Amino acid sequence: MNFRKNKRVLVGVTGGIAAYKSPELVRRLRDRGCEVRVVLTEGGKNFITALTLQAVSGYPVHEHLLDSDAESGMGHIELARWADDIVVAPATANFLAKIAHGTADDLLSTLILATTARVAVAPAMNQQMWSHPATQKNLQAVRDLGVEIIGPGQGDQACGEVGPGRMTEPDDIAQRIAGDGIPQRLSGRKVLLTAGPTWEALDPVRGITNHSSGKMGYALAQAAADMGAIVTIVSGPVSLSAPEGVDVVPVQSAQNMLDAVMKRVTETDVFIAVAAVADYRPADVSEQKIKKSDSADTMSITMVKNPDILASVGEQSERPVTVGFAAETENLLQNARKKLKSKNVDMIVANSVSGEESAFGSDRNRVTLVTPSGDEPLQDGDKYEVSMQILSRIADLVSS
Ligand code: C5P
Repeated sequence: MNFRKNKRVLVGVTGGIAAYKSPELVRRLRDRGCEVRVVLTEGGKNFITALTLQAVSGYPVHEHLLDSDAESGMGHIELARWADDIVVAPATANFLAKIAHGTADDLLSTLILATTARVAVAPAMNQQMWSHPATQKNLQAVRDLGVEIIGPGQGDQACGEVGPGRMTEPDDIAQRIAGDGIPQRLSGRKVLLTAGPTWEALDPVRGITNHSSGKMGYALAQAAADMGAIVTIVSGPVSLSAPEGVDVVPVQSAQNMLDAVMKRVTETDVFIAVAAVADYRPADVSEQKIKKSDSADTMSITMVKNPDILASVGEQSERPVTVGFAAETENLLQNARKKLKSKNVDMIVANSVSGEESAFGSDRNRVTLVTPSGDEPLQDGDKYEVSMQILSRIADLVSS
């Protein structure tokens, strides 16, 4: 979904391993209708070639500050004027230091001084370097200059360490840069979501869970935040980073998820249950790891029913606009309509999870909205685009 077409974005690539993701960022920006030019620093060239970036952007890459050919065509001042946005991704610790101190010793740092465009950086570096007081001080200075900081995320790093410093995913950066202009239809509204699977412990190392990447819930959360909402995700265990500006409350079991939801639901305008909640949990949780038996070839686990979080919200006398999902392998719409009534909700997002249409782990989705006034199939698209369509219908309900 292109909310803003032909935005001119200058992508700066500095010397970090995350530069291998920069071509993807260029592509994702172009997917969103942006015109993209790339500036590659000397450090960046150690990780990615100008030819690759030229191929994905469709324009020669700018590399030098004093390039007589470039200066007679699009020189550094023209480039600084041309851009609506400048995004440096990855931005190294050294490059943040340069911005913080106004250093202008190469094309990219000079452009940043010469532009009136919106400037954003997506830092990427080793977690120790990120946490160093010098980097944090520079970061504050960069922020004070009005530069937007995107990320970084947490997780495994190329250097083998784990922690903050991973560059935000290219698609998320592109959304942040190109996503302006989204109608703020949920401005100031509180949106609470559940997302991901639940984990029902059997013993300290084992448990029962459901298949769910959490991507749909997180995409909805991001889209709601982009529409101006104040968003909280009560999230089961997933390997996704928190969407920009969204509060994530991590939980494990269905009971934890219910408690976290109930604590917040009275102050919420919209509740969306996306989580794949385990219907049953083991009746007993062993304090010690359960040992393999030498004599028995089978074992039985007694399971008890978990609370239904969506239905619990549905039965509140003063409930928010309440939306559930129905992930079904068969009789999708019939089951969705049944859930609309049995859980007393305003809308069910019906989501086929069989065969080729399966949304599991995928970045795309195709859904039908089921409401008391009928069924409405939405246009298929990536999970963010589908989220925007769902939230636009939810915004209708909130304001009606
Ligand atoms: O009944 P079923 O699990 O198919 O319903 C799916 C919907 O109900 C989803 O929105 C899911 O998040 C929600 N749900 C829940 N708590 C449960 C089971 C499902 O909130 N225990």
